Amino acid sequence: MKSIVIQKPNALLIEERPLPAPAAGEVRVKISLAGICGSDSHIYRGHNPFAKYPRVIGHEFFGVIDAPGEGVEAGRLGQRVSVDPVISCGHCWPCSVGKPNVCTSLMVLGVHRDGGFSEYAVVPAKNAWTIPDAIPDRHAVMVEPFTIAANVTGHAQPTDQDIALIYGAGPMGLVTVQALKGVYKVKQVIVVDRIDERLEMAKRSGADWTFNNAEQSLQAALEEKGIKPTLIVDAACHPTILQEAITLASPGGRIVLMGFSSEPSQVAQQGITGKELSIFSSRLNANKFPVVIDWLEKGLIDPDKLITHSFDYHHVTDAIELFEKDQRQCCKVLLTFGQ
Ligand code: NAI
Ligand code: MN
Ligand code: ZN
Repeated sequence: MKSIVIQKPNALLIEERPLPAPAAGEVRVKISLAGICGSDSHIYRGHNPFAKYPRVIGHEFFGVIDAPGEGVEAGRLGQRVSVDPVISCGHCWPCSVGKPNVCTSLMVLGVHRDGGFSEYAVVPAKNAWTIPDAIPDRHAVMVEPFTIAANVTGHAQPTDQDIALIYGAGPMGLVTVQALKGVYKVKQVIVVDRIDERLEMAKRSGADWTFNNAEQSLQAALEEKGIKPTLIVDAACHPTILQEAITLASPGGRIVLMGFSSEPSQVAQQGITGKELSIFSSRLNANKFPVVIDWLEKGLIDPDKLITHSFDYHHVTDAIELFEKDQRQCCKVLLTFGQ
């Protein structure tokens, strides 16, 4: 089989590897579609502190089970599946309180263990979620990015009375907008970014109001309109955003952080405690695959609004370069395998 391997930073190869056999409790998936994410590019460029090389990247992937391992129901053969990249031990403290996404021995497919940019991958059977027939392949491959939004909203518990502010109209901001509007029917969703084309994408995903903060002050604009967001999600992830969010938030509001910056954020506690703000962080997803599959079945979200490009996997380098260089035109870029 062919696999896309990052041998070391900036060295990507399409390598011939032996077809893996599934171990007990695993299944082998014949992959048909995969999505490129910022973290794939970070591993390629050597900017992901968790990555070990060589590595088959890719943690957003969809395919068909072509070999169930020992102890796995034979009936799973031929099932269409999307794979949850979060592999957890199931018995440490975080696992026991429903946070397998921060398991003390967390393994993420495509980061800590070989992932889905490959013709085949072996994964734990419980990570391979069956996709109902009514959900097309192109939607099924997008389950993982939407689980990030499901995790964020799981913390924040939005209501239709919220006024939400999302920083960043990249893939992560857009999945969050779709969840807030489509699933939670939030009254007003405001999106801020510095790229007009991305703000247009946010409108297509349901944003009620967008604001370009490249040259103008968001704070001044919100004050002028008398808006105090009750729920703020930082999907842009610059360390300065936390203090701005604290300043802008309504008393009693919630802020959800998604960033992994190692730079400190300077914040004044008075601004947090004075308004009794709740600050959450959200990493990957905790058992959110069934949640997003349900959203897709009910038609509450529309992954097509995020998919801008699709490449045969042989052109993976072109695909990643386009994804990295063209934030104006690109959102989700898919790779196709075996077609
Ligand atoms: P992206 O880079 O495509 O999008 C970020 C957007 O934020 C861009 O459109 C950019 O113009 C905008 N932006 C940057 N600074 C800004 C500022 N100061 N104000 C307003 N807008 C600003 O990235 P993507 O894929 O959407 O991911 C966003 C972030 O989420 C990344 O930092 C990534 O590391 C993080 N992430 C976190 C996950 C988690 O589970 N916690 C999962 C996936 C991504
Ligand atoms: Mn991703
Ligand atoms: Zn664990």
